[in-house]
Amino acid sequence: MTGEGDGELGRGNGPRCVFPLEEALSVLRGRIRERPEVFLVLGSGLGALADEMAEGVEIPYGEIPGFPEPGVAGHSGRLVAGRLEGRPVLLQAGRFHLYQGHSSETVQAPVRLAAALGAGTVVLTNAAGGIGPHLPPGSLLLVEDHLNLMFRSPLAGPPREGEERFPDMSAPYHPGLQDLAREVALSLGIPLARGTYAAVLGPSYETPAEVRFLARVGAQAVGMSTVPEATVARALGLRVLAISLITNLAAGLGGTLSHEEVLEVGRVAGARMARLVRGIVGRLPRGS
Ligand code: HPA
Repeated sequence: MTGEGDGELGRGNGPRCVFPLEEALSVLRGRIRERPEVFLVLGSGLGALADEMAEGVEIPYGEIPGFPEPGVAGHSGRLVAGRLEGRPVLLQAGRFHLYQGHSSETVQAPVRLAAALGAGTVVLTNAAGGIGPHLPPGSLLLVEDHLNLMFRSPLAGPPREGEERFPDMSAPYHPGLQDLAREVALSLGIPLARGTYAAVLGPSYETPAEVRFLARVGAQAVGMSTVPEATVARALGLRVLAISLITNLAAGLGGTLSHEEVLEVGRVAGARMARLVRGIVGRLPRGS
């Protein structure tokens, strides 16, 4: 591969072509018995859902060609294929972030694999800072739109075959799935705010001035993930839903920030998020 033209992933030495997608796919196809309808990415605090999968087949990252070695950047992640609420789901526990030094190719690989395995719906969850007093720690926020402040698109580079070169992002998060999420939240008595998620590169948390900026440009939540996966999913024509678990008030709106606080709130409020996600998955239209 010369870096131009064929646009294929997983061949040659060009900077775009470092992820061995076909090899990874053949390993997954050998392990996964059923086409997943849904690809579910677990954010901080939701890890327990991975153990709630029925008939789950676990594929540790170490067994998937191209995935980072376990231990690198704190990863001991896994993909789990199984059933949640009776629906075939592929789940990612331990997502890849750009701030960990992973390449854009690595960050987006799980979505590409899920799409190639036949998933039509992607459910992205994340931990985020809340911008505004109406979003205290523990709140859940339905992502209606996003701001990509990572200043890079996962799609930059040579065009890829079978993929929209200039994806329309006027409705990045599927309106029907958002309606479903609101209905399920209402029926479960789970308050669900809504708003725009701003994705930053991290890993430092924002400064108070940055949070004031984010508030002025219309963000209600800020985090370090989700946008790369959502963008690739849209380019592949998948339906996307994203939900943020607000783990802290964004910088300058409360106390100081710590990763431990983020994880602790995730652990406590994650159970509510898990109930909501299960409810949504169980009520997705058949054949999603
Ligand atoms: N900022 C960015 N990412 C985050 C935050 C935050 O306040 N909380 C959890 N992830």
